[in-house]
Amino acid sequence: MFNIEKFDIKLDTDVIGRNFVYCEEIDSTNSFLINTKEYDKHGTVLLSENQTQGKGRKDRIWLSAADQNLTFSILLKEDFSHETINIINLGTSLAVAQAIENQYQLPCELKWPNDVLVNQKKVAGILLESTSMGSEIEKLVIGIGINVNQPNFTGKFNIPPTSIKKEFKNSADRERLLSEVLNIFEEIFKASQTNPGQILEDWKSRCQMLGEKIRIEDGEVVKFGVFEDIDKNGFMILNSGNKRELIHAGDIILR
Ligand code: BTN
Repeated sequence: MFNIEKFDIKLDTDVIGRNFVYCEEIDSTNSFLINTKEYDKHGTVLLSENQTQGKGRKDRIWLSAADQNLTFSILLKEDFSHETINIINLGTSLAVAQAIENQYQLPCELKWPNDVLVNQKKVAGILLESTSMGSEIEKLVIGIGINVNQPNFTGKFNIPPTSIKKEFKNSADRERLLSEVLNIFEEIFKASQTNPGQILEDWKSRCQMLGEKIRIEDGEVVKFGVFEDIDKNGFMILNSGNKRELIHAGDIILR
């Protein structure tokens, strides 16, 4: 069972996770924070030991063994603008990567837009969802799933999954890892408004696919080209020989 006191002792944030909600089971921490009026404080973190309808990107499901991993969402309501959402998205994967490296010395690679890989296998995924009021974003919910202590994975996956335990060859401390992720996330969230360029540089330094020939799939649409760069708003610049285009979403496959 997740030990809230142990987590709280190491939490060093001003707002993120200061309102912490823990539950045994829920459909999806993202869906709950998006739909509820009960918890609407900026920085609220909801952690569930089990999700019955965990969601992944592109309407996929996110499967995570109960009580072994970290499945949680962060609610943001203030201090960001529409334009910086992609930066926050990239920055979240950076925060998870830095936390895993700090705690377990496992080098993490980042895969656009926001997968965290260890030894070419996926250790964490991130799903951003939002609600709007007119042209304003009312809530931004950042859902994070980290495979922490799950010993094995069955099923068909786009990218082979792994967990910290599998790579580190030892059990990992979920409480300490969550506080580290939130501590780093808060700093990165601030930087997303004041120094987004730094987040992009840090993110790019961990992305091995930059400069490589790739195939990018978004539903039925498949594009080929060189992953040239990330623009200032966090979009991918794909160079397909005769043209450059900005890519907003998709799954990248190396060619
Ligand atoms: C992906 O890689 O496809 C994104 C996975 C995101 C999973 C997390 S787990 C906590 C939060 N609640 C959800 O239903 N999904 C996100």
